[in-house]
Amino acid sequence: MEPQHDHHHLPGPSLWPVGFAVGIATLLVGLIVSWVVVGVGAAVAVVFGLLWVRELATGRELVAETHPVEDEGVPEKPTGPALPADAGGPALPVTSERFPRSKFLEGATLGLGAVIGGVVTVPAVGFAIAPAFLDQGHPGIDVGPMSDFPEGQYVVATFMENPSQGEVSRRTAFIRNNGMLNGVPSFTVISNRCAHLGCPVQPGGPIFDDKQKTVKSGENQITLIPTTPAGGFICPCHGGAYDTEGNRTAGPPVRGLDRYDFRIENGRLVLSELYSVSHVVGSGADAKIRRFDLHGPGQHVDGPEFWFYPVQAPH
Ligand code: FES
Repeated sequence: MEPQHDHHHLPGPSLWPVGFAVGIATLLVGLIVSWVVVGVGAAVAVVFGLLWVRELATGRELVAETHPVEDEGVPEKPTGPALPADAGGPALPVTSERFPRSKFLEGATLGLGAVIGGVVTVPAVGFAIAPAFLDQGHPGIDVGPMSDFPEGQYVVATFMENPSQGEVSRRTAFIRNNGMLNGVPSFTVISNRCAHLGCPVQPGGPIFDDKQKTVKSGENQITLIPTTPAGGFICPCHGGAYDTEGNRTAGPPVRGLDRYDFRIENGRLVLSELYSVSHVVGSGADAKIRRFDLHGPGQHVDGPEFWFYPVQAPH
């Protein structure tokens, strides 16, 4: 008698794993680009992951219903006389399909997905989380003793942000000593990077090159040149203009000039992180600064425009 083959309909390929993978990829991209993208990626991954798990669970129930587990128990003892060796059919065991192709494909897909996910995820998560456990504080840029910055006078300071990278990391800041505020030294430290497209802005007034001073600080060489930017700061590229506090007054820049945080160490001025500024109210030591995380040139930090462009490009 011909053996009966039981042909079952295998489920078609599922799209849920694809959606899950897209969600994970979006999440990883978000770790670099923006927390908003991280949230969207996580939501997509969770939704498709749940749908995938539900599909797998219902699939198993279906298989359990269509393939009831037989009670294998203790095999019955053969009864009757033993057959001669040359009697009966071929001596092959009758097997059931214990590892069907669908199971193999499912396992292979999951395994391959896990390997690819691990290769992509582990380094990205490592780079994202490791800094939290390492001392990554800004080492600071020592631009010289406080006495090199006369009170009320702007100084054009150029310095290497990272001396190990050499001159390519040279930056410029406009530094003004505001005197003391409640017994603490106050400085205004404005970056010269234009908030439109990043051109170097210039002081709107004379620069006293003949009074240039060079300060050595470790491997860093700092130049300090006094200036009187009575007209504020001006960008030569597209006519952007700022007042002496770095507020935008004209032209295409979208916000005020960025500023440096600073600290005083052993009587020396040390610059640290850059931050962005929408605008400044007041001036000097009394200025109220609307500060934000550092944004790239051309990026709004507040107002309706910010809501239209909430995702920053990496910078
Ligand atoms: S880059 Fe400064 S105004 Fe355009």
